Amino acid sequence: MDHSTTDQAPEILLSRYEIDRRVGELAAEITRDYHGHTLHLVGILKGAWVFMADLIRHLDIDVTVDFLGISSYGADTQSSGEVKITKDLDVSIKDRDVLIIEDILDTGRTLRYLQGVLAAHKPRTVRVATLLDKRSRRIAPVTADYVGFEIADVFVVGYGLDFDQKYRQLPDIHVLQHAQPLQELDSTHKKTPLYRGSQGTV
Ligand code: PRP
Repeated sequence: MDHSTTDQAPEILLSRYEIDRRVGELAAEITRDYHGHTLHLVGILKGAWVFMADLIRHLDIDVTVDFLGISSYGADTQSSGEVKITKDLDVSIKDRDVLIIEDILDTGRTLRYLQGVLAAHKPRTVRVATLLDKRSRRIAPVTADYVGFEIADVFVVGYGLDFDQKYRQLPDIHVLQHAQPLQELDSTHKKTPLYRGSQGTV
């Protein structure tokens, strides 16, 4: 099937180029804010690792890195509201300047839970960086200190974000269309060098 025409192409919400530019801006902001300090990045698995890998390479300060595994979604596009730790921290965060790295802030339940868990370990400071913020979906009263993009209430995949553990490898962020087969996103990604999405052609 040919997916190269614009009306058949899966919608790209944020292109790899827009993401790259914004990640660089966020890193510059973080570098300024933590100048002279060692920043301890805590990436929230699994979705945040692609964002974190790009962000860290733009930071011009001393950093250390750890990961925390959290799961709140099942094989569905709705949050279950259940949060569980699937991988604990490897090193103590006591007296450290911690920056939580998230791919997406949605209802806020996960972050509210996380902030409680991390605060109990007495870090010096805790801030949050999220690539995406679905502010309109918020249930828990939490905010991020660094936000890449505020987005509408659409289900997005790619650049680390999944649906049922799939699509994480896509370089751009797509809106998951209703009943769209996996092969459609995959084949477009591999065959089409140009994309047209809601925010234009790249
Ligand atoms: C996603 C995301 C956040 C959380 C946000 O994780 O990475 O951790 O959901 O949702 P909330 O604000 O409604 O709590 P997910 O559970 O999908 O796991 P994943 O990172 O492994 O994809």
